Amino acid sequence: MNKQSMKRVLSFGGAVAFLGLAAQVSAMDGEQIIKDNCLQCHSETGDSAAPFSRISQQRKTPESWQATINRMKTQRGLKISKADEKVLLKYLADNQGLAPSETMGLRYVLEREPNVVEQNVPQHVAEMCLGCHSSARSGLQRRSQDEWEKLVHFHLGQFPSLEYTAGARNIPWFDIAINDTSKKLAADYPLKSQAWDDWKKAAKADLKGDWAVSGYMPDKGEYSATLSIMPNKKDEYILLINGHYADGSKLSGSGSAVVYNGYEWRASIIIDGREMRQVFAASADGKALSGRMFLSKEDAIGGYVNAKKVDKAPTVVAVSPTYVKRGETTKLRITGTNLDTNIDLGKGVKAKLMSKANDHLIVEVTVDAKAATGVRSVSVAGSELAGALAVYDKLARVEVTPSYSIARVGGAGAGYDKEKSLYRAVGYSAGKDGKAGTADDVKLGFMPATWTLQPFDEVAEHDNDLKYAGTIDANGIFTPGGAGPNAERKMSTNNAGNLKVIGTVADGANKVAGESQLIVTAPDLVREFIR
Ligand code: HEC
Ligand code: HEC
Repeated sequence: MNKQSMKRVLSFGGAVAFLGLAAQVSAMDGEQIIKDNCLQCHSETGDSAAPFSRISQQRKTPESWQATINRMKTQRGLKISKADEKVLLKYLADNQGLAPSETMGLRYVLEREPNVVEQNVPQHVAEMCLGCHSSARSGLQRRSQDEWEKLVHFHLGQFPSLEYTAGARNIPWFDIAINDTSKKLAADYPLKSQAWDDWKKAAKADLKGDWAVSGYMPDKGEYSATLSIMPNKKDEYILLINGHYADGSKLSGSGSAVVYNGYEWRASIIIDGREMRQVFAASADGKALSGRMFLSKEDAIGGYVNAKKVDKAPTVVAVSPTYVKRGETTKLRITGTNLDTNIDLGKGVKAKLMSKANDHLIVEVTVDAKAATGVRSVSVAGSELAGALAVYDKLARVEVTPSYSIARVGGAGAGYDKEKSLYRAVGYSAGKDGKAGTADDVKLGFMPATWTLQPFDEVAEHDNDLKYAGTIDANGIFTPGGAGPNAERKMSTNNAGNLKVIGTVADGANKVAGESQLIVTAPDLVREFIR
């Protein structure tokens, strides 16, 4: 198996039907709904620990439960009222979910992070399953051995041509899947786990209160805000958000949220007239929320969010930019609340308060020409954020993230949207050995860059991919070309392309560029989540 087919670049496509607001749920309601709606096909087992056939022996995320219920409706003929479906989803997600630790490292599919190249995919999953969807889809489920085997049967029953698809046609797919892959999945992702037993017993935090938020939107830049979370019904909240973008302009919005399984935060919020989704995880102590917020209509356009619960104590959430240069004076934004003027950026870095808002401070920072380089803490009013600020003397290297990405043509009356891709530049200084590209390089963080495209190789140059495949804007957002054959191109091929995305960062007069590969291709009709 070659390298290309071992990795799968994830994309989630445009609009997604999302989990609606949950209703107040008791276990009784959930079980009754199953009895009333599912038993014409499923059966009662008589085993109180696993009362319903096929339903009780699996645990999954709210999104996966929604996908299964959707399949019952669209493929199997389940009829269920909207109200009952909401209660059922909440019941299944709460009672047959994953512990927070069981979702760690795989949350990118829930967060709809575009262009993830999955890491550490188990070999057997890479060979057997990556042809159609992420490895995280199975990594975010827990099943009995029998249910992993039934999943294999389901795949072949549902997709009889599976054994003829690329990667499967040259191997006895079914034999391997049933005799080997399902056993390994059952060992790696078992139904019963200590983590889940512990999480079920754990007291769940109440998230109501004010939160200090730091985040990024590709087309708006970094922002800081206060998110007020107000209780509505059990596990449901009303939201208000107010804050500022990095350029000082105001941000405000309101919305609502549901918490599944004690920590899976899903919110709909309209900010400055745009409808967004939040997919966050709450920390076990209920003091941190983190995840991704993105446009409901275009989930590629989004960014990571970090929030800390505000109490009376001062809280520093983030610093931006995350680097300052020796011998220079710059402005720094410190996001957080209850911050007064006791700002300590360590030896050799002086800070002067310029302005103060409810969600951030602006400070003028002067860095001594001899200040120690490297990463240091930022402390304000006794609240310390470790490793928050890098002092550097020279930008040595720029990495463009993601390092490999796929955008997909669309629009032009094709019935599917363009799938954009987006880029950021991460700067590094050389570290103690003075050499760029070694293990001791110091990460400076995201830096502003100018964006350009180049053909990736001679073929791309010859085919003039640059002219047809798409364009990149000043924010690093790439928009692919229109769908369909293009009469101007050789053999009327479509607007596919193989490009280099080049991000150039100016460090004074010193310009440092980084690059990554971008494939522009046809749409992916298997979406990460089924609508
Ligand atoms: C009209 C028949 C029918 C009804 C009604 C029905 N199911 Fe199913 N269900 C099936 C069939 C057939 C399968 C096996 C194929 C599959 O997984 O899609 C299945 C499989 C499942 C599975 C296993 C899926 C997996 O990934 O392994 C779950 C869970 C499930 N159903 C839940 C439900 C719930 C909950 C309800 C009621 C709200 C329900 N079903 C109602 C026919 C039905
Ligand atoms: C031929 C393409 C294809 C291959 C190969 C494939 N899958 Fe899938 N898989 C799908 C599709 C499509 C769905 C969504 C089905 C639906 O809900 O309508 C799915 C659904 C799933 C689900 C969610 C089921 C649920 O309802 O909870 C899991 C878990 C899963 N696959 C695991 C695997 C594993 C493990 C392998 C490798 C052994 C694999 N898949 C190989 C296409 C594929």
